[in-house]
Amino acid sequence: MLTLIGTDISEAVRLLEAGEVVAIPTETVYGLAGNALNEEAILKIFEAKQRPRFNPLIIHISSADQLNDFAKEVPDACLLLAEKFSPGPISFLLEKKEIIPDLVTAGSSRVAIRIPAHPVAQELLKRTGFPLAAPSANPFGYVSPVSAAHVYQGLNGMIPYILDGGESKVGLESTIVGFKNGEVIVHRLGGVTVEEIEAALKKPVRLDLNHERPDTPGQLKSHYAPNLPLWVGDVDSLLQVHSGKKIAVISFQKKYVYPEPAFQFNLSPDGDLREAARNLFRILREVDHLDADIILAERFPESGLGRAINDRLKRASINV
Ligand code: TXA
Ligand code: MG
Repeated sequence: MLTLIGTDISEAVRLLEAGEVVAIPTETVYGLAGNALNEEAILKIFEAKQRPRFNPLIIHISSADQLNDFAKEVPDACLLLAEKFSPGPISFLLEKKEIIPDLVTAGSSRVAIRIPAHPVAQELLKRTGFPLAAPSANPFGYVSPVSAAHVYQGLNGMIPYILDGGESKVGLESTIVGFKNGEVIVHRLGGVTVEEIEAALKKPVRLDLNHERPDTPGQLKSHYAPNLPLWVGDVDSLLQVHSGKKIAVISFQKKYVYPEPAFQFNLSPDGDLREAARNLFRILREVDHLDADIILAERFPESGLGRAINDRLKRASINV
């Protein structure tokens, strides 16, 4: 199959209406989208990504007003969070209505729903009129794409069209939030921080990021993995341990001088976690293509977006 890259929204609409899949830009990462109400389209998504069928997909809608069309019930806490953070990098796990195929949710009674903020995604959703199921547009297990070129690198030949909407501004996937017995549970750390959610709710949330028996099956440890071995921790001592190897370092702000690594990248020289998050996946991919033996990454501050960055680095690493 020939894979085209372009900015033609009408072409994307035409393909989606015909039950095809299209890679689309969102503010978090690029998604591989198909009509969430069309099982053929959903199957094509799983196939192109080589994604196991037990791993459910997030559906995307254009506005919070549509939550009731696809969810049986929308808890007050969900409405509050939707009001505050949607459109944006947050997904809500809600009891699904019949209309959502079981294939989308991998048999679960709950569906994850997100309202993306990217103007191109918004326009697509408005013009198609149906919800779009969209996992990140990368082959299963690899780093999520934050540009059309990244999608092309991974899915060339597997999908007909990549809609180019520039670089993703957030650069980390959405935060996934569930609701149980009046409690709000964060299942995946992402673009909206735990602190922001707690401030909005005026109460603490529970974190359930379990890797072994995840409530969110996609939280597998092997996710976001580059091909080169990646170690996370105290880079000064890791540099000693791995001396003699060709090392690429990913750090927040710091520059390492002794022993000097072959390659190094600051995710944000100014120490801005938002900027670091935006750069993370692009740099992980760049580093993966270098002529290095291993990647060493710093641990980021455990607050705000630093927690989501640490989570992704941990899943990409071989030592944690
Ligand atoms: O920012 C994002 O969320 C991006 C963009 C494209 O919207 N999408 C994304 O999708 O990251 P994906 O498929 O790569 O990750 C979705 C995660 C997976 O870990 C999946 O297991 C979980 O959400 N998930 C989706 N539906 C679920 C459900 N019904 N119950 C539990 N977990 C669910
Ligand atoms: Mg993914």
